[in-house]
Amino acid sequence: MDRYAVVGHPVAHSKSPFIHARFAEQTGAELEYGLMDVAPEDFTQAVKSFFDEGGCGLNITLPHKQRAWELSDWRSDGAERSEAVNTLFCDDDGRLRGHNTDGIGLVRDITGNHGGRIKGQRLLLLGAGGAVRGVMPALLAQKPASICIANRTVEKAESLVRHFAGPIAMQATHYDELAGRQFDLLINGTSAGLDGKVPALPEGILADSAWCYDMVYGRGQTPFQAWAMDQGAEQAIDGCGMLVEQAAQSFYIWRGVMPNTAGVITALRQTLQH
Ligand code: ATR
Repeated sequence: MDRYAVVGHPVAHSKSPFIHARFAEQTGAELEYGLMDVAPEDFTQAVKSFFDEGGCGLNITLPHKQRAWELSDWRSDGAERSEAVNTLFCDDDGRLRGHNTDGIGLVRDITGNHGGRIKGQRLLLLGAGGAVRGVMPALLAQKPASICIANRTVEKAESLVRHFAGPIAMQATHYDELAGRQFDLLINGTSAGLDGKVPALPEGILADSAWCYDMVYGRGQTPFQAWAMDQGAEQAIDGCGMLVEQAAQSFYIWRGVMPNTAGVITALRQTLQH
């Protein structure tokens, strides 16, 4: 039986075992996918033991993505640039390979599942923590017209803009400095929704037909989705599809088979209702 797991702290709430069990059924794979709650000080040893004992692959979630990046002997371009790894596997030479599938998951959900556009759009990213950092390489690769990163603590947004500086126009701001500006695609990467809150955004920053995407998901509409609908967004999407898409890319990296995601997204939504 091939063994996989997600490592986090806490991790009990993770939907990854559910998602990977559906992928396994669908592709006829014999595998088990577990939960590993590991404190930061035990992370390195836990990863080493997992692979030494024949484990096939790990997903890495909060708060370990940066440590997983440090531990990786090889990193994909996206993982390298974001300095965060969410997928580990051990190659035949015993080298730990680190990928980051979060950004691919986000892009596939917006463009593939929902038929949206990132290329040429004016993007506004809300938040400047690990969630935003992790998806930056994939978003930049889509060649948006510009990326504005707004954060309560503007220094963190400025640091991200410096880190990812390149040909795409980028800017860091406070939320209140957004007044009078307009964006085509807003992506919420803050954890404000977990407290039922939305970042303090000015009115009128959504362009005509703007889309809003919340990287968070929950039982019903997230606070940011509700705000987006109220502001007249054409679409207000939660992060359910992104979660399944990033998992599918991890599954592909480990097993060379790309699962179908549509039915799994539907099934995940159903479990969230209960
Ligand atoms: P993660 O790794 O999940 O991104 P994080 O690094 O703790 O977690 O980042 C959380 C993000 O949500 C930050 O951008 C944080 O803003 P600050 O950097 O100013 O703290 C943002 N955030 C959390 N609660 C918020 C709130 N109530 N309003 C606005 N932003 C909030």
